Amino acid sequence: MKILVTGGAGYIGCHFVQHLLSATEHEVLVLDNLSTGHAAACEWTQLIRMDLADFAAVKSLLKSENFDAVIHFAASSLVAESVALPFFYYYNNTSNTLNLIQSCADAGVGYFIFSSTAAVYGEPEPSRIPITEDGPFNPINPYGRSKLASEWALRDISAASGMKFGILRYFNVCGADRHSHLGESHNPETHLIPLLAKTLLGQRPSFSIFGQDYTTPDGTCIRDYVDVEDLARAHLDVLNYLRAGHNSDTFNCGYGHGYSVQEVIDAMQEAGGKPFPVVSAPRRVGDPPILVADVSKLKQLTGWQPKNDDLIDICRSVLNWEQCSRY
Ligand code: UFG
Repeated sequence: MKILVTGGAGYIGCHFVQHLLSATEHEVLVLDNLSTGHAAACEWTQLIRMDLADFAAVKSLLKSENFDAVIHFAASSLVAESVALPFFYYYNNTSNTLNLIQSCADAGVGYFIFSSTAAVYGEPEPSRIPITEDGPFNPINPYGRSKLASEWALRDISAASGMKFGILRYFNVCGADRHSHLGESHNPETHLIPLLAKTLLGQRPSFSIFGQDYTTPDGTCIRDYVDVEDLARAHLDVLNYLRAGHNSDTFNCGYGHGYSVQEVIDAMQEAGGKPFPVVSAPRRVGDPPILVADVSKLKQLTGWQPKNDDLIDICRSVLNWEQCSRY
């Protein structure tokens, strides 16, 4: 197959490209505007530096290259930023995705895999956890809504064109390539596990826990932390599932069990072999108490099996990456 990976220079996209190159013979091209991605993260494949907002260029690329599949990672994904800049999120996530989907359908692309998010579920009722793919859908911020709107467009355009789609709703993605060639590098960094690693390594004075009065056993929020290498494999498993003749579908991507912020702090301290300063801070707006995926659909339909479901090992991979990151 000839595969286009948008956002292939970003955190999740580059791990997927690496997996694709190591596990298959597929030809892979990366499209990225490098606004948050890193050229060094995809130096093993051809990088087309292009902005998805350049509709004419995107259309022409898809027409001329005859891709069999498009894996669409490129997006903005910070909840707080989306609240401050809603137009940008609808523009960069929804509008650019809409144009990309239609351009793919027009060009006869067979398969479209879309990066969506647990944020489409909003704050689920406790009785709905673990969360299944059928909703309800109550995104509580522009980021979640921009992704849900893109999901709807993808379903409708695929139905009209015959292009098959897989939607992957990520829970909390974490970890780094175990050879330390690839990892998470955001500026600013807002995610829990890289912030813990930076604190342990002395790059930050202390770590702030956002809220310790949630309705959870230790009072801190619970999330389903899924390793990026396992998540990368899920994309190929879904693509292969569609290629085997199955119907388009939507899959939660997590491990099906959660850890509290306090448990992740403990795991990082164990991985690094030393404690670090932790302070209390107020709740962060829009943090649901518990988000845990039901991943039985992904496992049963595609055969996906996690390999890195070990929080201490995940923390170790992030510590290694933080110590020798190349970008
Ligand atoms: N946290 C802290 N202190 C910090 C950073 C995070 O206590 O300095 C806590 C958060 O409050 C939350 C947990 O750590 O309880 C995880 O926070 P992250 O920012 O790492 O991840 P989120 O759960 O906020 O976000 C993730 C994805 C989003 C997606 C969202 C779905 O990164 O893209 O899940 O709800 F939208």
